[in-house]
Amino acid sequence: MSIRTVLRMGDALLLQQAAPVTQFNTPELHALIQDMQDTMRHMSGVGIAAPQIGVSLQVVIFGFEQSTRYPDADAVPYTVLINPQLTPVGDAVEDGWEGCLSVPGLRGVVPRYQRLHYTGHDQFGNAIDRLVSGFHARVVQHECDHLQGILYPMRIEDMSRFGYIDVLFPDLKKPEEE
Ligand code: NI
Repeated sequence: MSIRTVLRMGDALLLQQAAPVTQFNTPELHALIQDMQDTMRHMSGVGIAAPQIGVSLQVVIFGFEQSTRYPDADAVPYTVLINPQLTPVGDAVEDGWEGCLSVPGLRGVVPRYQRLHYTGHDQFGNAIDRLVSGFHARVVQHECDHLQGILYPMRIEDMSRFGYIDVLFPDLKKPEEE
Protein backbone atom coordinates (compact mmCIF):
# COMPACT_ATOMS: atom_id res chain seq x y z
CA MET A 1 0.00 0.00 0.00
CA SER A 2 1.17 3.49 -0.68
CA ILE A 3 0.02 7.06 -0.91
CA ARG A 4 0.68 8.26 -4.43
CA THR A 5 1.23 11.75 -5.78
CA VAL A 6 -1.96 13.21 -7.24
CA LEU A 7 -1.43 14.86 -10.61
CA ARG A 8 -2.62 18.44 -10.75
CA MET A 9 -4.48 20.34 -13.45
CA GLY A 10 -2.06 21.18 -16.23
CA ASP A 11 -0.66 17.66 -16.42
CA ALA A 12 -1.30 16.25 -19.91
CA LEU A 13 -2.22 12.82 -18.54
CA LEU A 14 -5.35 14.28 -16.93
CA LEU A 15 -6.59 15.22 -20.41
CA GLN A 16 -6.26 11.73 -21.88
CA GLN A 17 -9.00 9.23 -22.63
CA ALA A 18 -8.34 6.28 -20.28
CA ALA A 19 -8.18 2.71 -21.60
CA PRO A 20 -10.64 0.01 -20.50
CA VAL A 21 -9.53 -2.67 -18.05
CA THR A 22 -9.38 -6.05 -19.81
CA GLN A 23 -8.47 -8.38 -16.91
CA PHE A 24 -10.15 -8.43 -13.52
CA ASN A 25 -9.04 -9.87 -10.18
CA THR A 26 -5.32 -9.50 -10.93
CA PRO A 27 -2.64 -8.54 -8.38
CA GLU A 28 -1.88 -5.41 -10.45
CA LEU A 29 -5.51 -4.26 -10.39
CA HIS A 30 -5.83 -4.90 -6.64
CA ALA A 31 -2.60 -2.99 -5.99
CA LEU A 32 -3.81 -0.05 -8.09
CA ILE A 33 -7.09 0.11 -6.16
CA GLN A 34 -5.29 -0.14 -2.82
CA ASP A 35 -3.08 2.81 -3.79
CA MET A 36 -6.09 4.81 -4.96
CA GLN A 37 -7.87 4.09 -1.67
CA ASP A 38 -4.84 5.03 0.44
CA THR A 39 -4.36 8.24 -1.54
CA MET A 40 -8.04 9.23 -1.44
CA ARG A 41 -8.29 8.66 2.32
CA HIS A 42 -5.01 10.47 2.98
CA MET A 43 -6.32 13.52 1.13
CA SER A 44 -9.84 13.28 2.63
CA GLY A 45 -11.29 12.92 -0.85
CA VAL A 46 -14.72 11.48 -1.65
CA GLY A 47 -13.50 9.91 -4.88
CA ILE A 48 -10.49 9.46 -7.10
CA ALA A 49 -9.87 8.23 -10.64
CA ALA A 50 -6.84 6.19 -11.72
CA PRO A 51 -5.55 8.89 -14.12
CA GLN A 52 -5.17 11.20 -11.11
CA ILE A 53 -2.35 8.97 -9.84
CA GLY A 54 -0.89 8.65 -13.31
CA VAL A 55 -2.57 5.42 -14.48
CA SER A 56 -4.63 5.89 -17.63
CA LEU A 57 -7.16 3.09 -16.99
CA GLN A 58 -10.94 3.25 -16.56
CA VAL A 59 -10.98 2.76 -12.79
CA VAL A 60 -12.64 5.06 -10.25
CA ILE A 61 -13.36 4.67 -6.56
CA PHE A 62 -15.65 6.81 -4.43
CA GLY A 63 -17.71 6.79 -1.27
CA PHE A 64 -17.76 8.09 2.29
CA GLU A 65 -19.74 7.95 5.52
CA GLN A 66 -19.13 11.56 6.47
CA SER A 67 -16.92 13.95 4.55
CA THR A 68 -14.96 16.84 6.03
CA ARG A 69 -14.79 18.27 2.52
CA TYR A 70 -18.59 18.05 1.99
CA PRO A 71 -20.11 18.08 5.49
CA ASP A 72 -23.70 18.42 4.26
CA ALA A 73 -23.60 15.60 1.72
CA ASP A 74 -25.48 12.33 2.26
CA ALA A 75 -23.30 9.23 2.62
CA VAL A 76 -22.34 7.38 -0.57
CA PRO A 77 -21.46 3.65 -0.35
CA TYR A 78 -17.80 2.84 -0.96
CA THR A 79 -17.61 1.67 -4.57
CA VAL A 80 -14.97 0.45 -7.00
CA LEU A 81 -16.25 1.13 -10.52
CA ILE A 82 -14.39 -0.11 -13.59
CA ASN A 83 -15.20 0.49 -17.28
CA PRO A 84 -18.24 2.59 -16.34
CA GLN A 85 -21.15 3.45 -18.60
CA LEU A 86 -23.30 6.40 -17.54
CA THR A 87 -26.80 7.16 -18.76
CA PRO A 88 -28.69 10.22 -17.51
CA VAL A 89 -32.27 9.50 -16.41
CA GLY A 90 -34.43 12.41 -17.49
CA ASP A 91 -33.22 15.89 -18.38
CA ALA A 92 -33.11 17.39 -14.89
CA VAL A 93 -29.82 19.13 -14.19
CA GLU A 94 -28.86 20.68 -10.87
CA ASP A 95 -26.05 22.97 -9.79
CA GLY A 96 -23.74 21.96 -6.96
CA TRP A 97 -20.34 22.80 -5.55
CA GLU A 98 -17.43 20.56 -6.53
CA GLY A 99 -13.78 20.35 -5.78
CA CYS A 100 -11.11 17.98 -7.02
CA LEU A 101 -7.90 16.58 -5.58
CA SER A 102 -6.23 17.58 -8.87
CA VAL A 103 -7.40 21.19 -8.46
CA PRO A 104 -6.38 21.85 -4.85
CA GLY A 105 -7.79 24.77 -2.89
CA LEU A 106 -10.55 25.63 -5.35
CA ARG A 107 -14.24 24.92 -5.69
CA GLY A 108 -16.83 25.73 -8.31
CA VAL A 109 -20.51 25.26 -9.14
CA VAL A 110 -21.01 22.57 -11.76
CA PRO A 111 -24.28 21.55 -13.45
CA ARG A 112 -24.80 17.76 -13.37
CA TYR A 113 -27.63 15.38 -14.24
CA GLN A 114 -29.72 14.89 -11.15
CA ARG A 115 -30.57 11.23 -11.85
CA LEU A 116 -28.24 8.69 -13.32
CA HIS A 117 -28.15 5.02 -14.30
CA TYR A 118 -24.65 3.60 -14.19
CA THR A 119 -23.15 0.22 -14.91
CA GLY A 120 -19.68 -1.27 -14.80
CA HIS A 121 -17.71 -3.85 -12.85
CA ASP A 122 -15.91 -4.10 -9.55
CA GLN A 123 -12.31 -5.28 -9.23
CA PHE A 124 -13.40 -8.94 -9.22
CA GLY A 125 -15.44 -8.58 -12.40
CA ASN A 126 -18.84 -8.53 -10.67
CA ALA A 127 -21.41 -6.41 -12.48
CA ILE A 128 -22.56 -3.12 -10.94
CA ASP A 129 -25.90 -1.65 -11.99
CA ARG A 130 -27.34 1.30 -10.07
CA LEU A 131 -29.91 4.04 -10.32
CA VAL A 132 -28.81 7.03 -8.22
CA SER A 133 -29.52 10.70 -7.70
CA GLY A 134 -28.23 13.81 -5.95
CA PHE A 135 -24.69 13.86 -4.58
CA HIS A 136 -24.08 10.18 -5.42
CA ALA A 137 -24.93 10.92 -9.08
CA ARG A 138 -22.72 14.03 -8.96
CA VAL A 139 -19.70 12.14 -7.62
CA VAL A 140 -20.02 9.43 -10.28
CA GLN A 141 -20.26 12.02 -13.06
CA HIS A 142 -17.25 13.90 -11.68
CA GLU A 143 -15.07 10.78 -11.33
CA CYS A 144 -16.05 9.32 -14.69
CA ASP A 145 -15.29 12.64 -16.38
CA HIS A 146 -11.66 12.05 -15.34
CA LEU A 147 -11.66 8.95 -17.57
CA GLN A 148 -12.57 11.16 -20.56
CA GLY A 149 -9.93 13.77 -19.76
CA ILE A 150 -12.46 16.25 -18.38
CA LEU A 151 -11.82 18.25 -15.19
CA TYR A 152 -14.71 19.99 -13.43
CA PRO A 153 -13.56 23.57 -14.23
CA MET A 154 -14.17 22.66 -17.89
CA ARG A 155 -17.88 22.15 -17.00
CA ILE A 156 -18.41 25.39 -15.07
CA GLU A 157 -20.92 27.66 -16.77
CA ASP A 158 -20.88 30.57 -14.32
CA MET A 159 -17.26 31.49 -13.65
CA SER A 160 -18.33 33.95 -10.95
CA ARG A 161 -19.01 30.88 -8.81
CA PHE A 162 -15.48 29.45 -8.98
CA GLY A 163 -12.91 30.35 -6.37
CA TYR A 164 -10.73 29.51 -3.41
CA ILE A 165 -12.40 27.40 -0.73
CA ASP A 166 -11.17 29.46 2.23
CA VAL A 167 -12.50 32.64 0.61
CA LEU A 168 -15.82 31.15 -0.54
CA PHE A 169 -16.49 29.20 2.67
CA PRO A 170 -14.59 30.81 5.56
CA ASP A 171 -16.63 28.76 8.06
CA LEU A 172 -15.94 25.35 6.50
CA LYS A 173 -13.79 23.28 8.82
CA LYS A 174 -10.56 22.92 6.94
CA PRO A 175 -9.50 19.32 6.30
CA GLU A 176 -5.84 18.53 6.99
CA GLU A 177 -5.15 18.64 3.26
CA GLU A 178 -7.18 19.86 0.35
NI1 NI B 1 -11.63 15.08 -9.45
